[in-house]
Amino acid sequence: MSAVSLTNIVKRFGSVTAVHRMSMEIAEGSFTTLLGPSGCGKTTTLRMIAGLIDPSEDDITIKGRRVNDIPIHKRNLGLVFQNYAFFPHKTVAENVAFGLKYRGVSKAEAREKVQRALDLVQLPQVGDRYPKALSGGQQQRIALARAVVIEPDMLLLDEPLSTLDANLREDMRVELKRIQNRIGVTTVFVTHNQSEALAMSDKLVVIPNGLVEQIGTPEEVYNMPASEFVTSFLGTSNILAGRCIGLDGSSVALDIPALGRIEVPRERAPHISG
Ligand SMILES: Nc1ncnc2c1ncn2[C@@H]1O[C@H](COP(=O)(O)OP(=O)(O)OP(=O)(O)O)[C@@H](O)[C@H]1O
Ligand SMILES: [Mg+2]
Repeated sequence: MSAVSLTNIVKRFGSVTAVHRMSMEIAEGSFTTLLGPSGCGKTTTLRMIAGLIDPSEDDITIKGRRVNDIPIHKRNLGLVFQNYAFFPHKTVAENVAFGLKYRGVSKAEAREKVQRALDLVQLPQVGDRYPKALSGGQQQRIALARAVVIEPDMLLLDEPLSTLDANLREDMRVELKRIQNRIGVTTVFVTHNQSEALAMSDKLVVIPNGLVEQIGTPEEVYNMPASEFVTSFLGTSNILAGRCIGLDGSSVALDIPALGRIEVPRERAPHISG
């Protein structure tokens, strides 16, 4: 069974339709990335998966149950939002422990869990410091520690690397993948950064504008983009205009002005129908 199912989900804000009939299945244990330009509906989709906002039409199910039928404290989700906010007057350890307070975890057990989470993000020594006394990359790791400390069933990450500079961002990609592999948690990651999405994901969901345009592995999406949008958004610039002049079971013949007639295997032209 999928960890999460979306079927024809719609979300409207007044007259703005942020998400139009979006469908996807998110596999248990997978690292799934929602990739698309600013304003395409990534955060809205993630917030609906978290059950923080309701779809206008249809329901999202987590392991077969409607998200909004599960009380918030039982959803057991690890969240890292675009602007991760810490309590400035609490120490790092207190910030990380926050989600445990409401789960009936004893103080001694909480201390142990916090230390394990800090070890996991490779910042074992910073528990007594205040968030402001940490670098951007360290704060990023703490946001992650805070999300994983509750041992979530699912990790929802909204552009968690976007505030980091380019070098750190690449290091954190590797780090985040290591952590996800280590704990095996189903992860939904939001980004508008193509290389990040290609490098990190098991599955990519490409969303130009509130609609899913393609779902596949990074190789599938990169090698066989389903549309012109996907081709250009993933940075491959070899788009040539041409005319389809023949079609059979195994190949498609194209007339391309600068090249003449070329044939491509049928499966490389999935959006041409006969
Ligand atoms: N609370 C809201 N009220 C009205 N419109 C909203 C609201 N939240 C989002 N929208 C609109 O819905 C659309 C999708 O927004 P969303 O935040 O999901 O985009 P995004 O893909 O996360 O963009 P970004 O990459 O910039 O974070 C936008 O047009 C946005 O203006
Ligand atoms: Mg967003």
